[in-house]
Amino acid sequence: MISRSYLSELFSLEGRVAVVTGGSSGIGRAIAGALARAGSSVVIVARNESELAATADELAADGCRAAWVSADLGSRAGVRAAAERAAEVFGEPDILVNSAGINLRPPMGELGEEVWDATMAVNLEAPYLLGQRFGPGMAERGFGRIIHITSQQAHRAFVQSGAYGVSKGALESLTRSQAEAWSPHGVTCNTLVPGFVMTPLNERLSSDPEKVAALAARTMVGRNGLVEDFAGAAVFLASRASSYVTGQAIFVDGGLSVH
Ligand SMILES: NC(=O)c1ccc[n+]([C@@H]2O[C@H](COP(=O)([O-])OP(=O)(O)OC[C@H]3O[C@@H](n4cnc5c(N)ncnc54)[C@H](OP(=O)(O)O)[C@@H]3O)[C@@H](O)[C@H]2O)c1
Repeated sequence: MISRSYLSELFSLEGRVAVVTGGSSGIGRAIAGALARAGSSVVIVARNESELAATADELAADGCRAAWVSADLGSRAGVRAAAERAAEVFGEPDILVNSAGINLRPPMGELGEEVWDATMAVNLEAPYLLGQRFGPGMAERGFGRIIHITSQQAHRAFVQSGAYGVSKGALESLTRSQAEAWSPHGVTCNTLVPGFVMTPLNERLSSDPEKVAALAARTMVGRNGLVEDFAGAAVFLASRASSYVTGQAIFVDGGLSVH
């Protein structure tokens, strides 16, 4: 019994409200599920309505409080509208997870402005705008958690990093800027750094068994990432337990980055 109250004091998200972008698929979906099952009310944001509804329904069937907002985070107007609609559901969020992301990979010499702009809009500007919208309120209330999802490509080039790697590198810098601004007011800002996780995002690479096996061999654990691998780290970063962890990039990659 003592362990239950101890763990609950450290990790429970009961009474919290979370907004998870990209919460309808892959890593974001697993994180939304983890936060909801740890007690948070969760609003997931993405474009595809049937995937959003299916995710929210699955969580509701498990007794969680979950809702969805369909929005295109590829434009500033879309992000602003999404933020307002998300905050209307359960109130202003205590936890913001930016998992929505795109990875377009033209060779560097063919990387045009359209791909550059689209990548920066979804991967970098949306997290920035959502931070500006929700961060000050979190600081005012004295508690907040901002969690970004970056990539090993924030740290090194990997299979035509192009604009994607740049956006993720900048997102880690944004994390530090936000942490510097808001940590004194109880708002921690961190990133989770995946290695290689089989999701719709990297369908092309995932469909090549030799490359998949080679990547698994480069980890220390000996396998590629699963979306469930992000649950514990996300609950930790969203909870009281992590109140002295801020401005950090936490690698959830089976040791890939240090092997
Ligand atoms: N998988 C990996 O190996 C890996 C490695 C490193 C980093 N990451 C990062 O992890 C995060 C999640 O990736 P994932 O692998 O879980 O990908 P995923 O399964 O493809 O999920 C991406 C999510 O983002 C949403 N999204 C994309 N564009 C959007 C837009 N314009 N507006 C609103 N929502 C949008 C998608 O929903 P809709 O399409 O319905 O909008 C979906 O919910 C990304 O930031 C990615 O860069 C992944």
